[in-house]
Amino acid sequence: MSEAFGTTGVTPQRAGQYHDMVQEAAAHPEAFWLQQARGLTWHKQPTHASRSDFSGDVTVEWFADGRLNASENCLDRHLSTQPDKPALIWEGQEDGQREVLTYQQLHARVCRLANLMRRLGVKKGECVAIHLPMVAEGVIAMLACARIGAIHVVLFGGFSAEGLAERLTDSGAVLVLTANSARRGEKRIPSKVTIDDAIVRCGQSSCVKHVLVVPVTDDVVSMQSGRDLDYAEAVSQEAPECPAESMSALDPLFLLYTSGSTGRPKGLVHSTGGYMVWAAFTHATVFDHKPTDVFWCTADISWITGHTYVVYGPLANGGTIMVYEGLPSWPQPGRWWDVIDRNGVTTFYTSPTVVRAAMREDEAVVRSRSLKSLRILGTVGEPISPEAWHWFHDEVGKGQCAVVDTWWQTETGGVMITAAANAITPRPGAASLPLPGVAATLLDAQGVEVTGAGEGLLCMAQSWPGQAMTIWQDHARYRQTYFTTCPNHYFTGDGARREADGYYWITGRVDDVVNVSGHRIGTAEIEDAIATDHEVVESAAVGIPHDLKGQGLVVFVVPREAGVFHPSAVNSAVSKGVGRYAVPEKIYVVRDLPKTRSGKIVRRLLRKIAAHDLEGLGDLSTLADPDIVSELIAAVKEQQ
Ligand code: WTA
Repeated sequence: MSEAFGTTGVTPQRAGQYHDMVQEAAAHPEAFWLQQARGLTWHKQPTHASRSDFSGDVTVEWFADGRLNASENCLDRHLSTQPDKPALIWEGQEDGQREVLTYQQLHARVCRLANLMRRLGVKKGECVAIHLPMVAEGVIAMLACARIGAIHVVLFGGFSAEGLAERLTDSGAVLVLTANSARRGEKRIPSKVTIDDAIVRCGQSSCVKHVLVVPVTDDVVSMQSGRDLDYAEAVSQEAPECPAESMSALDPLFLLYTSGSTGRPKGLVHSTGGYMVWAAFTHATVFDHKPTDVFWCTADISWITGHTYVVYGPLANGGTIMVYEGLPSWPQPGRWWDVIDRNGVTTFYTSPTVVRAAMREDEAVVRSRSLKSLRILGTVGEPISPEAWHWFHDEVGKGQCAVVDTWWQTETGGVMITAAANAITPRPGAASLPLPGVAATLLDAQGVEVTGAGEGLLCMAQSWPGQAMTIWQDHARYRQTYFTTCPNHYFTGDGARREADGYYWITGRVDDVVNVSGHRIGTAEIEDAIATDHEVVESAAVGIPHDLKGQGLVVFVVPREAGVFHPSAVNSAVSKGVGRYAVPEKIYVVRDLPKTRSGKIVRRLLRKIAAHDLEGLGDLSTLADPDIVSELIAAVKEQQ
């Protein structure tokens, strides 16, 4: 297991430089990060790097006295050197839909929208929601917000109206960008209708003054006069130049909602300065970025991966990004391989779920494609098994590409643990080594640091530039969620194992977060949604291993009256409250849940029973009703 795998692409020179960075960042963090920050364009250079402190109230502050604009860093500063270089290559899911935007053109499109938003009254510091599929306008909208100092909140197309309403209300978004409708293979997603519904649900608490509707399809949608505007028509009247707002490094660049073990989704707040330094630094370092690269991160822009590696990292570094609208295997298997071949993609960054699905296809699918433009492959979001790693390396990379498994989180802003391409020798299945400046450590259940080889809770002993500063309007929750499990440390929610030479293996979440195909789902959100169904007394959602999705979601439900209960009601409650993407794999109807005498649900037992892992169920005598265990086992067997 600790065998290193080959040395694909690792050069002594890159390895040496990387090693020096790790040393320098540890020995002289202030100087190291100020030096990295100089790679960006500032209105005022910062004079100090971190003023962060994980004790007391918890402060995360990077480059506090610096001033900059994120969209200028992604656009304007490249205009003098490479105005005609492709910044964004877009392909639609229908054959022949392709558009290439140079830096000059992308800049103009961003400026037009920025001017429009200003004219519509959007102010610096206000939130703008972006609810778009993978079209160029999604990227344009993010950068246009950054340009005028509006805080973007990108919302996943799969959220239900209820889920959207909750996030619109919490962020106080004043403007929403949506599509008339979106394509997903044969299906149409009614984006505008869902947004209309969400705004109605916000009721009095809605701050939305305008909805800009991007014509993604030819569907005609109803428009509310005075509130809704056709995007294409409105931007065409704006000038292609727009002065950028000067932002403090600590001004929020965006909020992004993510799930935790308790309560409703929380809006993590990312800073302008620290985040941009981290995005640019990690993109260049992890993917060994070259000016000739065509970088394709397949993540949706509504996830953190899309923020950092579709948009901010590669554009800050003057790269060319690939944005593809469609599914991997629609209209036929191998569609994504064709996208790579047609566009000369050099760096392909995707999820283990995509790799596992591709492995199941006929091997002729991948073998019939050239894929020779590829140089670097990456995965993120969930562990990749050594088997999938090797398949990715051998079949997609044809044995010629570095493969980087990258561990990180919405909260971390960018990659934290990886075997940086061509610098660190990877071990298939291992996240590998912390990046320069990442003070990863393992703590045991008592909060004592594990030294050398061992296993424990994965924590960070110090801040890094990409760290989220707070939770939107709830700093107490931020402190409580991340800094109390292991005092004076940021606690990731993951467990990990470390080898004697420092390589990390992520063992998975130790809290009640389930990772379905790389989507973070809080079990509490699922249970809250189910609780709206009056036929249900109580429920518990747990994750179980799943061949394709990594984890699958399973729900145990205690009905009020067994005979008249319809499990399908549970699906619609989840679909309505959270979104269709979170509908459980399986629903088990049971008489009761296993609880301690103090009434706490013993999820560990439910996870094992649902996964048919009946060995070592542990001491059951502490349960309020030990007999329930055999009933649960029987119920799971029966309802298979
Ligand atoms: C999991 C996605 C194993 C982990 C960027 C983490 C991983 C959560 C990996 C964050 C990986 C992410 N190996 N597990 N390479 N990458 N995870 O916030 O449990 O959507 O805490 O960020 O995904 O998910 P999030």
